[in-house]
Formats: sequence, structure tokens, C-alpha cells
Amino acid sequence: MDFYEVIRTRRSIRSYKPDPIPDHVLRRILEAARIAPSGSNRQPWKFIIVKDEKIKERLADACGHQSFIAEAPIVIVACGYNIHYNRGGYMGEMSMLVDVSIAFTHLILAARAEGLGTCWIGLFDNEKVKEILKIPNEVNVVAITPLGYPRNEGFSEPGPRKSLDEIISVDHF
Ligand SMILES: Cc1cc2nc3c(=O)[nH]c(=O)nc-3n(C[C@H](O)[C@H](O)[C@H](O)COP(=O)(O)O)c2cc1C
Repeated sequence: MDFYEVIRTRRSIRSYKPDPIPDHVLRRILEAARIAPSGSNRQPWKFIIVKDEKIKERLADACGHQSFIAEAPIVIVACGYNIHYNRGGYMGEMSMLVDVSIAFTHLILAARAEGLGTCWIGLFDNEKVKEILKIPNEVNVVAITPLGYPRNEGFSEPGPRKSLDEIISVDHF
């Protein structure tokens, strides 16, 4: 699938078929996250693949009861290791969020290329998710997504977006 078509037709999918995801497909998607760039190549991430039905349901509850999350055969939880040093003044502890978000974007776009749906979940209770998944202290949850085949076609052109004129300026802000 053409790269720009992948980007254009990725949508947040909120209804999933229970159909399993072949291992080799899942592996390709995870590989896309693995090779993402990161500051100083620190790769401060860990991705938890959740398949257990009960754990998926508890996760959906910890995400403000967004029950569609547990419909998908897999839920992926992207975690980041807290970074305690500030190299060259670059963003400090927040750089972990940048790094993990880049890798997660790779993952989400790779999923689209495989015909799989995702929905970036930012509404979650970090402490609850950490407890459910036994995530250690020095690690925090950055993003969560269900991963599965969309129940309806789902992939479509983007909804309303700001125009290029609104978001681009040249030479000055
Ligand atoms: C950081 C972030 C957090 C989000 N959190 C949620 C969420 O908790 N629940 C949800 O249903 N969608 C969530 N979304 C999806 C957005 O609502 C969606 O990306 C946006 O409306 C554009 O729609 P599209 O993804 O279909 O293009 C989130 C997206 C991002 C990037």
C-alpha cells in the first residue's frame, strides 16, 4: 500500500471483529515500532501485548470505561522509562514522551498498512494501568491502543483538519 494512502486513510477505529491477528503480521507491526528513531538512540520504550480477556476488560475500565478497547483481540500498551538526565538541554524528562510517541506512531501506521485498526487512547488512569500490568515504578504508560480488524470498513478519508495556511508559516511564527 502506498505510504501516503496509509497516512491518509488511518482512522481511529472504535469497533472491532474478534478475528485473531496472525503472528507474522503482529511481528511486522512491532518491528515497525522497534526501529523508530529516538533521542540519543535511547529507545526508552516497552510495549505490552495484552491478549487475556479479563485483563483487556480491566484495561478498558481504566481507560474511562471505553469498552470498545476490550473488543479487539489485542490491546497494546506503550510504556516509557523515565529519563533522569537532560542531554544538551533537549526537553529533559519530556523527551521520553516524544520518543515513545514516535514509535507508537510507527506502530499505528504499520497496523493500517496491514489492514488493522487502532485507536490512540490517551484517556487512561496511569496508576490503575500500572497496577493491572505490574509495571515498575520508574516506568509510565504513554499510550494504549486496541489492535484488530475493523468491524465496519472503517478506513476513510480524514475528518476536518486545519488548512495548511493555518498551520504553516515561513521564516517567522
Ligand atoms: C494523544 C491522543 C489521545 C487520544 N485519546 C483518545 C481516547 O482516549 N479515546 C478515543 O476514542 N480516541 C482518542 N484519540 C483519537 C482522536 O480522537 C482522533 O485521533 C481524532 O479525533 C482524529 O480522528 P482520526 O484518528 O480518525 O483521524 C486520541 C488521539 C490522540 C492522538
